Amino acid sequence: MGINYYEKERIFKLDTPNTTYMFCLVDKEGFMLHMYYGRRLSDYRTADLTRTRFGEAVPSNHERERCAFNDCMPFEYATHGLGDYRDDAFKVLNPDGFTATSLEYRSHRIYPGKPAIKGMPATFGKENECTTLEIVAQDPVNGLEVTLIYSAFEDVDAITRSVKIRNTGKYSNVKLTKVLSTCVDFEDDDYDTIFLHGSWARERTIDRNRLGHGKHYVSSKRGESSHQEHPFLALLGAGANEDNGEVWGFNFVYSGNFIAQAEKSQFKTVRVMMGINPEDFCWNLRSGEVFEAPEVVMVYSHEGIGRMSRTFHDLYRKHLIRSKYRDAVRPILINNWEATYFDFDTDKLISIAKEASRLGIEMLVMDDGWFGKRNSDDNSLGDWVVNENKLKGGLKYLVDEVNKLGMKFGIWMEPEMISPDSDLYRAHPDWAIHIPGRKGVQSRAQFVLDLSRPEVVDYTYEQVRRILKSANIEYLKWDMNRQITDLGSAGLDSESQGELFHRYVLGVYELQERLVTEFPDLLLENCSGGGARFDPGMLYYGPQIWCSDNADAIARLEIQQGTALMYPLSTMGAHVSDCPNHTVGRTTPFETRGYVALAGTFGYELDVTRIPEADRNMIPAQTKMYHRFSDIVRLGDYYRISSFHDNRMWDAWEVVRKDKTEAILTIVNVFTEANYKSLRVKMKGLDPEKTYRVSVFDIETGEDKEEGSLVLKGDSLMYAGINAPDGIRGDFRARLIHIVEA
Ligand code: GLA
Repeated sequence: MGINYYEKERIFKLDTPNTTYMFCLVDKEGFMLHMYYGRRLSDYRTADLTRTRFGEAVPSNHERERCAFNDCMPFEYATHGLGDYRDDAFKVLNPDGFTATSLEYRSHRIYPGKPAIKGMPATFGKENECTTLEIVAQDPVNGLEVTLIYSAFEDVDAITRSVKIRNTGKYSNVKLTKVLSTCVDFEDDDYDTIFLHGSWARERTIDRNRLGHGKHYVSSKRGESSHQEHPFLALLGAGANEDNGEVWGFNFVYSGNFIAQAEKSQFKTVRVMMGINPEDFCWNLRSGEVFEAPEVVMVYSHEGIGRMSRTFHDLYRKHLIRSKYRDAVRPILINNWEATYFDFDTDKLISIAKEASRLGIEMLVMDDGWFGKRNSDDNSLGDWVVNENKLKGGLKYLVDEVNKLGMKFGIWMEPEMISPDSDLYRAHPDWAIHIPGRKGVQSRAQFVLDLSRPEVVDYTYEQVRRILKSANIEYLKWDMNRQITDLGSAGLDSESQGELFHRYVLGVYELQERLVTEFPDLLLENCSGGGARFDPGMLYYGPQIWCSDNADAIARLEIQQGTALMYPLSTMGAHVSDCPNHTVGRTTPFETRGYVALAGTFGYELDVTRIPEADRNMIPAQTKMYHRFSDIVRLGDYYRISSFHDNRMWDAWEVVRKDKTEAILTIVNVFTEANYKSLRVKMKGLDPEKTYRVSVFDIETGEDKEEGSLVLKGDSLMYAGINAPDGIRGDFRARLIHIVEA
C-alpha cells in the first residue's frame, strides 16, 4: 500500500514509486504538521522535521506562546484567525459573525482506490492503482467536520488532495468563505516559481521568476480558468532546469475561479496553496450538508521540469481522460472557421469536403454560423435551429452528403450562451446571468446562461441533444466565448448569490456529464475563445481542447510548450491554417505548419479549395505523416530539447515511444543569425545501448529520406548529438527527424 500510518510516532507516509509525502500529528490537540515532500524515502523515521527549524528557539505549544507556535508551524491545512498570519486555506462566517477556524484531528481511514468527487471531475484509479487516506478533523466551535483527502498513485508519481466539509449541526447554517484544496509548507526558501500567463491568442506563456518574500499568486475571477492566468504553479529548487533539479508542480482539476499561490514567510519558509478563488465565494452550508472542494494534483520531480511534465502526461492519459478516443487515433479534421467564417452554405461546405477527402482528410467540422439567423456574431446564440437558407435541405442532408464522401461530420455549438438578439432571450431574459436594475455588460454581443438553475441546464442539454440526434454527428466542438460579469442569478436568494460562480461550473460539468453518458462515441473537443478553459477539469469530459485561436506556427511554439508543461500532446487541438496567418499576419512554410500541428491533435483550418497548389499538394504526405506518427505523439514521452521562448532563435522537441524503439524530433528554425555555428541537437530519452537509424522525413513522399540517414548508438545521439539537417537555414524552416531502432 502506498500510504501507511505509524501509530507510535503518529506519522502518515504517502509513497508513489519515486516520491514521499509525510505529515504527523502532534500534541494532544492533534495538530497536523507537514514534514516532507520530495524524493522517496525508504523509512518513515527522520529527524524531528516539524520542530527543528528554529533550533533553540523552537516555540512550544504552551498556552502563553500559542500565537508564535501557530505562526510558524508547517500546518497541513492552514486555518484562519488564530495566530497563523500566513495566508489560510479555510475560513467561514458563522451565524455569530465570527470568521476564525481551527482543526483538531479525530480519526483517519486508509483504503485502496480513490473516491469520486460528487458532480465534479477528478482523477481516478482502481484499487490496485492507488491508495487513499482520509483524515477527519473537527472545528468544534463552528460545528464543522473537515475531511482532508489524499490519494497516492502506485504507477505515477502523483498525489492528489481534496477537502470535504460537513456541517454537524451546531449551527443551522455556516457560510464557507474560503475552502482551498491544498496547502503545503516548504522548509527552504531558495525557489523559483513558474506561473502561466497570457491573453486571447497568447495562452499559457511560461513565466519563471525568483520567489521573493510575501504572497505571489495567479488567479481567475472570470468564471472560467481563463486565457489570462492558469490553475498551475510550479516551485523549482535552486538551479532546476529542464532535466535537473527539484520541481514541484500543482495543477487544479477545476474549470472556474481559482487561486494558485506561493508565499514566503518571515521565517523564510514557503507555503503553497491552491483552490477555488475565495473572491465572490460564499457557500451556505446548512446543517447536515457537505461541501466538496475540487481536487489538486501534486507532482514532484527530481529530474527537472521535463520529468514533471511527463508525469502529468502519464497521469492525465491514464487516470483523468475517460473518452474512448483517449488511446485512439483521432480523425484528421478540417474546420471551416478560418476558411469561411460566417459566409458558407451547403454547397461551399461540400466543395471543401470533396477536396479534403481527396487529400486524405477524414472529417468536416462545421463551425459557427449554421443556426438561427447568424451571419455575424451579434445574434442567435440560444436558438439552436438550423438556418435552412444557408443549409439547404437541412443538417441531415449535409451530413449524409459528407458521409457519402467517406468523411465523418462534426459540429460547433456554444451551449452556455445567450444573445440578447435571440428568441430565447426574448422568451427568458432572466435566464441570463444578470443583476436586476443593471444594464448587462455584453461581450461579443452575448450574455452567459445561468447554469446554476436546473431548468436552464435541462433546457440547454435538450438543445444539444436534439441537434446531435438529428444527424450522424460524430464530433462536437463545445465553445464558450465570453467570461462572466454581472454576477447575479434570478434563481438564487440574496443569501446565496455568493454560490453562483461555483454553481455555474457545476452546471457545466452536469451538462458535459450527461453528454458523454448519452453519447459515449462522440469526440468532444472543448474550446473557449481558443484556450481559455484548457484545464484538467474539462479533460475529464473531452479528450482534446482547442489550444488557441492563434494557429500561427511560430506563436504556437510558445503556446504549445506552455500547454505541454502538464497536458499531453494528444489533448492539444492544433491545426494547419492559412497564411498570412489571420491572427498575427505572419507567413510560414506549409511544411512547418504541419510539423507544429503534428505536436497536437492535427487537423486543418483553411479553405482547401483556395490555398496555393503547392501547399495543397503537400497535404497527402502530411496526412500520411500523421498516421505514421500519431501513435508516438499520443502515447509517447515528450522531451523538450530547445525552447524558442528562452533563446528566441530555435525550438525543438522530441517524442519517444515508451519502449524506446522509435522517436520523432522536430526542429524549427525561427530566426537565422549570420555567421553563426551550426545547430547541434542533443536528443533525449533514447536507450543509450540501442542503435538507431536517423532519417529526415521527406514531405514530398511522406517517407523517410534514405540519403543522408545515419546509424548511431543512442548514447551518441543523446550525449554528442547531431547537426541540424540541411534545409533548416531560413526563417521558420523546420525539419522532422525520424529515429527508429536499427
Ligand atoms: C471561438 C473559437 C473559434 C471559433 C469561433 C466561432 O473564437 O475559439 O475557433 O469557433 O469562436 O465564433
